[in-house]
Amino acid sequence: MKVDGVPRRSIQLAADGETVEIVDQTGLPHRFETRRLATLEDAAAAIRDMRVRGAPLIGATAAYGLCFAVRRDPSAKAIEDACSTLLATRPTAVNLRWALGDMKTRILAVDEGRRVEAAYARAAEICDEDVAINAAIGENGLDLLSSMADRRPGPVDVLTHCNAGWLATVDGGTALAPVYRAHDAGIDVHVWVDETRPRNQGAGLTAWELAAHGVPHTVIVDNAGGHLMREGRVDLCITGTDRTCANGDVCNKIGTYLKALAASDNGVPFYVALPGPTIDWAAESGAVLPIEERAGEEVSTATGETETGEVRTVRLTPPGTPVFNPGFDVTPARLVTGLITERGVAEASAEGLLSLYPERRRAAAG
Ligand code: MRU
Repeated sequence: MKVDGVPRRSIQLAADGETVEIVDQTGLPHRFETRRLATLEDAAAAIRDMRVRGAPLIGATAAYGLCFAVRRDPSAKAIEDACSTLLATRPTAVNLRWALGDMKTRILAVDEGRRVEAAYARAAEICDEDVAINAAIGENGLDLLSSMADRRPGPVDVLTHCNAGWLATVDGGTALAPVYRAHDAGIDVHVWVDETRPRNQGAGLTAWELAAHGVPHTVIVDNAGGHLMREGRVDLCITGTDRTCANGDVCNKIGTYLKALAASDNGVPFYVALPGPTIDWAAESGAVLPIEERAGEEVSTATGETETGEVRTVRLTPPGTPVFNPGFDVTPARLVTGLITERGVAEASAEGLLSLYPERRRAAAG
């Protein structure tokens, strides 16, 4: 995507060929700032503090974190320790585990003298693969939007939750990939953007991205979606997912489940866009997934920009109010109309997923 006319990815190798530059998402939408990551600790902190976030981007950042660790010490023990550090940063998005497992296999396959080179090569591939996957998701979701556009005059109204745009990936986005693709193809698309409390990834990040690309959008409070669906003002919902189970259950930002319930009650198609590495083939259903529990301050406070341009955090609740802050929820497959992947659109079921990833059927049989 372009920022101020300059093409950039949410994470990119710096000119020194060793460190990486990230877009610091904690500054958005108020400040566009980049930050340099040079060590394993930098990468782990960037993921933990949500300077980078979104399942695919977490995986890509962890891959570079492992590169930094290998540069410091290429021994198998140091690699194992680095993987444990990175794995502990965020529990729900499976891309982290996938990227680290994949990196480790590649790195340990060569002798110690060649591990740095192998690590950087694979991390770069993971980033490029993510971009290609998201382009394919955009292409595969385009038909859905263009067929909706043909049904009636006026814009296609898409509702999305959280941020599953280019900021959540290396580039291109998952849930927003079909939206960008359709917009670029001249289809009239409008996006209802759930603010996505408590961290406001919708109000802050999705709104910023869509504005930068010129896609018409409107931010709504998280509670408004059901009302809009009842009024017939939503043609379809598209969200991302942090982990997709083998049976088609999806785990995404807290509040996704409520949108799927409202969509089902109102006959609104509810699609989930996902790259293959987000599928946890070992998870039979959403019942087994770890749900991240985050700090209560995210709920009891809010951060924004004052009229004088200062970014301030204010308290919303009485001091000492108990708060519970689960970061994700599970939407059962029965509420999901379809899964938009890089290989096509499938039914949200074990059979649907296996029809797109037949190698998994063979792997399970063997
Ligand atoms: O807590 P976050 O901001 O990392 O949560 C992100 C989401 O829930 C996204 O929808 C998900 O990672 C899919 S991103 C392509």
